[in-house]
Amino acid sequence: MQLYIDTANLDEIKEAHDLGVLDGVTTNPTLIAREGVDYGKRLAEICEVVKGPVSAEVIALDAAGMIEEGVQRAEIAENIVVKLPCTVDGLKACKSLTDRDIRTNLTLCFQPLQALMVAKAGAFLVSPFIGRIDDIGEDGMDLIHRIRAIYDNYGFETKILAASIRHPKHMLDCALAGADVATVPFKVIAQFMQHPLTDKGLDAFLADYQKTFGR
Ligand code: G3P
Repeated sequence: MQLYIDTANLDEIKEAHDLGVLDGVTTNPTLIAREGVDYGKRLAEICEVVKGPVSAEVIALDAAGMIEEGVQRAEIAENIVVKLPCTVDGLKACKSLTDRDIRTNLTLCFQPLQALMVAKAGAFLVSPFIGRIDDIGEDGMDLIHRIRAIYDNYGFETKILAASIRHPKHMLDCALAGADVATVPFKVIAQFMQHPLTDKGLDAFLADYQKTFGR
């Protein structure tokens, strides 16, 4: 399973990269606005740090505009993946960019037929938003299971990138459901290696050792 970080914050990206297990980065207009920096410049900075896929979202809503922006974004670095919305125009832009050998990430996926359609258009990644489905009282994980079943039925190569991950249980359930990738905020990644019994056990090991051998 691959792990991406979901942020446009360079310090967080560098710190996650230092863990040695980071496979890529996702950004979106909200995350860039939070940083208050130029989108293109920040993408270039991120691509200097992380050599795996870096998702760059388009702002245009029409297919022609998305294609134009996507081509420009793809020129920033070879690991840029153009992020498009799961709309009719996003689907058309996905097919066109795929035909130009530009990889795409189809985002804001909330139902399995969107995932089926974008896989047919050649999407590299599809991003189902788990947390936002939970937010409206439905089961985000069910979407991951259903997309996994559809992709496996037909051998689609589009990778399932679980997004809108809010806590470690989301990550665990995505791993059990066979999501190919999860994109996770830094504060949630930081929780993955934590367990109180690990800390307690380590304290006991060191105390016992010091009792006998001193420092
Ligand atoms: O990758 C999508 C993610 O940024 C959305 O997360 O928590 O705003 O639903 P959230």
